[in-house]
Amino acid sequence: MAHVVVIGAGQAGCALCAKLRAGGYDGEITLIGEEPVPPYQRPPLSKAYLLGEMEEERLYLRPESYYSENAITLRLGKPVSGIDTAASTVQLDDDVIAYDHLVLTTGAVPRRLPDAIGGNLAGVHVVRTLADVDAMAPDLGAARTALVVGGGYIGLEAAAVARKLGLEVTVVEMADRILSRVAARETADFFRDLHQRQGVALREGVGLERLEGEGHVTGAFLTDGTRLDAGIVIAGIGILPDDRLAKTAGIEIDNGIKTDSQGRTSAPGVWAAGDCASFPQDGTQMRLESVGNAIDQAELVAENIMGAAKDYVAKPWFWSDQYDVKLQIAGLSTGFTDIVIRRDGDALSHWYYAGDRLLAVDAMNDPRGYMVGKRLIEGGKHPDPALLADTDTDLKTLLRA
Ligand code: APR
Repeated sequence: MAHVVVIGAGQAGCALCAKLRAGGYDGEITLIGEEPVPPYQRPPLSKAYLLGEMEEERLYLRPESYYSENAITLRLGKPVSGIDTAASTVQLDDDVIAYDHLVLTTGAVPRRLPDAIGGNLAGVHVVRTLADVDAMAPDLGAARTALVVGGGYIGLEAAAVARKLGLEVTVVEMADRILSRVAARETADFFRDLHQRQGVALREGVGLERLEGEGHVTGAFLTDGTRLDAGIVIAGIGILPDDRLAKTAGIEIDNGIKTDSQGRTSAPGVWAAGDCASFPQDGTQMRLESVGNAIDQAELVAENIMGAAKDYVAKPWFWSDQYDVKLQIAGLSTGFTDIVIRRDGDALSHWYYAGDRLLAVDAMNDPRGYMVGKRLIEGGKHPDPALLADTDTDLKTLLRA
């Protein structure tokens, strides 16, 4: 009987196994996870779960019974120590497992503040795993002041939670503005204003010099010479694809684990999907860090394992929740030249154009703008920007054009 072995029990690994079974694959499936818990959703970790508004079980993607009912062998709390691509086996501490197909859904690891500047002090946290967030909760409860390092979506979401919990919060972003990697100035302006109205201090163009504290962090020196009290530090300074096993096994790496358009790596029978994997697009190897990409790529690999021979077509979408604002993003804004703003009551949307081509939309409390934008982008439609900006235009009419 064929055996599909999946390393990495996150969103992508779980979606892959489910798709195999839904598609009628009747061979063996083994899903190996380093963490001791079944596959769970990560996005709520920096939002509702961190705020204490969501139970751990509600994070689980599937009830535990799902795996046994679908003959998926879960091996949790078991890091894989190596892959032998010649023998088609993976090594665990206490076992060797043979595969016909191996899928790497190893995800990403958060960048950490270096030990040399105090990154190893107690009270310094990252937001990636359930264990990270569980470890953070007592510090969040005890501290009066929080320093958030990094003004990306992770940092801003953590700042919103810390503020809601009543802490005095400072965000430092070393680039000249927040969200510079992922959003236009107009979107950054909106979120800066939102945080400032909530009482968060935002320091842009300022880096962290070093943390201070004996054992536990108590403060921080910034690159402009100022000193802040900090009872807790949360670093949201980006993530790196977890390609360590693949690299050691001699599998080709290029911006993460390199795959072809169908999800195959350079090693026979070995596939990759999700945050750890890059795929060919527009002459480069692109890597997307998102739930949507993890699911779509994993499902594509499952279909290709079953013989579909389909190419990956990315349909990027993201979201972020901060205070009472729900941001939804469709498309990829890379290379935009113009922003079109549409404001309709409380609904606000920023539309990214490259010349007359619509690339992406950021929709703030605007589910309709998001939905229409996603369909326009996926349908390759490029509406006249003047029509978009005009609130007399019913957005849905643009879909018919
Ligand atoms: N001091 C201050 N700011 C820093 C430092 C530093 N030492 N190092 C990095 N930064 C800033 C970067 O300039 C950037 O604006 O941190 C920000 C990190 O933003 P992202 O790279 O977008 O990463 P992050 O917010 O951590 O999100 C990681 O998780 O949920 C996903 O969508 C999210 O894919 C993203 C990933």
